[in-house]
Amino acid sequence: MTGFEPWRTAMERALYGPGGFYRREVPSHHFATSAQTPAFAESIARLAEEVDGRLGRPESFAVVDVGAGGGDLLAHLAGLLDERVRLVAVELRPRPRGLPERVEWREDPPESVEGLLIACELLDNVPCEAAVVDGSGRVRYEEVDREGRTRPGGAVADEDAKWLAEWWPIRRPGERAEIGRPRDAAWRDLAGRLARGTVLAVDYGHRRGDRPGGGTISAFKDGRRTDPVPDGSCDITAHVAVDAVGADHVATQRASLLALGASAAHPPMALAYEDPTAYAVALARSGAVARLMDPEGLGAHWWMRTDR
Ligand SMILES: C[S@@+](CC[C@H](N)C(=O)[O-])C[C@H]1O[C@@H](n2cnc3c(N)ncnc32)[C@H](O)[C@@H]1O
Repeated sequence: MTGFEPWRTAMERALYGPGGFYRREVPSHHFATSAQTPAFAESIARLAEEVDGRLGRPESFAVVDVGAGGGDLLAHLAGLLDERVRLVAVELRPRPRGLPERVEWREDPPESVEGLLIACELLDNVPCEAAVVDGSGRVRYEEVDREGRTRPGGAVADEDAKWLAEWWPIRRPGERAEIGRPRDAAWRDLAGRLARGTVLAVDYGHRRGDRPGGGTISAFKDGRRTDPVPDGSCDITAHVAVDAVGADHVATQRASLLALGASAAHPPMALAYEDPTAYAVALARSGAVARLMDPEGLGAHWWMRTDR
């Protein structure tokens, strides 16, 4: 036993194994996401209403949040969507205290969903392999030990080599990539559960033509970026090859929120004189929407979406 293992095995153990990061930790204690904010929930409520209307407002309409974290998105939606709409969290962690009673909490996604199936920053946490080109030009899996040291491992298997050739070719010694197959499979699993409605994954990622040269495996802990050490102490994540996933539509979060009518416009100054409290609330809200649409930040995240 050398202590080195392929990244996918290491991520699986460090994030989801006994004592793994996500078995213990609430995401919002370590990093900020769109789904934690009320402003994001407002746009998702608008999307849910659109989908609900398209489906003819069925009794069984549900919003299912897979990888719900602390349940923030559904807690906010509970105040925005009418009681007919089922709100279902799918999460490995136990149900947090204080969540509105109408939010259901379960470990596995329902077999069949009529409504909106959403997964925010889930795919980037689906464990995947990293590949690296060695000195003689062979593409090999990268292995990592529990201190984060890496080394080239065995030659990549045919299926992974095929995926790399199609989506993220690497040829020159030292080039590195992440193999997105498990993320593509996770998307297919989600989409396969949608009977009617919309499936939406929101995540950071890249498309062919703008793949990051050295790969993206990184780690977060206590609100800071840290070294990706797969010992269960930190979140380990890799950006998603969003075009490979197989969604029908891929667009930036900024474009998607604008299409749903979100606006970061400042409230009129006159409101500050008429109703200073309302002005302060509106100003905070427009600031929150601006952060969600920031092209250098959350606005550059990707919405992967299929309607059915
Ligand atoms: C990065 S957090 C995102 C949380 C939340 N969606 C957000 O955007 O703030 C990813 C979450 O997905 C959960 N998760 C990962 N794999 C899962 C699975 N197969 N089923 C349910 N939850 C999962 C983790 O436990 C973690 O809470």
